[in-house]
Amino acid sequence: MKQPDSNFLASEFTSSATRNAPIGVMDSGVGGLTILNELRQLLPHEDFVFIADQANVPYGERTLEEVQGFVEGIVATLLQGDFVDENPQPMKLMVIACNTASAAALHPIRELFPQLKFVGLEPAVKPAAENTQSQKIGVIATKATFQGTLYASLISRFATDVDVYKRACPEFVQLVERGGPYTEEDQTMVCDILSPLVEEGIDQLVLGCTHFPFLTPLFRKCVGEDVEIIDPSPAVAAQARRVLASAEALSDRIEPGTTVFVTTGNIEHFAEQVRTLTGETNPIVRQAQWVDKRLVIL
Ligand code: DGL
Repeated sequence: MKQPDSNFLASEFTSSATRNAPIGVMDSGVGGLTILNELRQLLPHEDFVFIADQANVPYGERTLEEVQGFVEGIVATLLQGDFVDENPQPMKLMVIACNTASAAALHPIRELFPQLKFVGLEPAVKPAAENTQSQKIGVIATKATFQGTLYASLISRFATDVDVYKRACPEFVQLVERGGPYTEEDQTMVCDILSPLVEEGIDQLVLGCTHFPFLTPLFRKCVGEDVEIIDPSPAVAAQARRVLASAEALSDRIEPGTTVFVTTGNIEHFAEQVRTLTGETNPIVRQAQWVDKRLVIL
């Protein structure tokens, strides 16, 4: 399988993306499936390739530099299109379906791969600050997301007039990666983590990590009915469609698109997670491996 030179330049990649080229979607793990599910619903004729870097999950406990390296490796590999055997094609859009990866790498990868369109994520602080009645909002995300300049700039642009209570929740990422069924013990752990925010009087809870929407039923039991839980997935999917539409790059296919699911972790566990979290009964699943900071799809 072809690999990029170690000192690859953006100009070495072709700009041959066509209307029916696939859309890349990446996360550290299965959290990005919350975004992929919305994308597939909104854009049913598109092909997708989803990469879960489960060899390196959780990203949220790593340095931003380390995460940036992973994202660059993944994008470089996906640009080659080698994940589809029959018809290798570089993707037309890359969705960074991970707040941590977006915080670490969105700016640098836009510069490194100028021929590619990107959609990234940021915690939905703006709508939370606009909607709050109590003037108190909660944000849950990863440690790395809170460390990035993206988060600091969101707060200074949109949330100077409200009190923001934040909490890094690596436990929730772990819970989703482990998978259900969730026990009473899990529920208690979740409520123990969220109750300090609820006691402060927040009326908006921003899910600033793509793993978290899978835990919404557990969150709801802790925060009650009066707190708005903000899941950004539908807005991200809508943004992806807008980007493709304005570039006249929406698929013109009539038949449904396909999705290839790739993991750098344990492929059996991943296939089971994909079945449970997407409802896909017979997913196409591929193994990938990191070799000297390069991602190789086997
Ligand atoms: N799903 C990722 C996010 O949105 C991060 C989870 C992790 O790997 O720590 O931030």
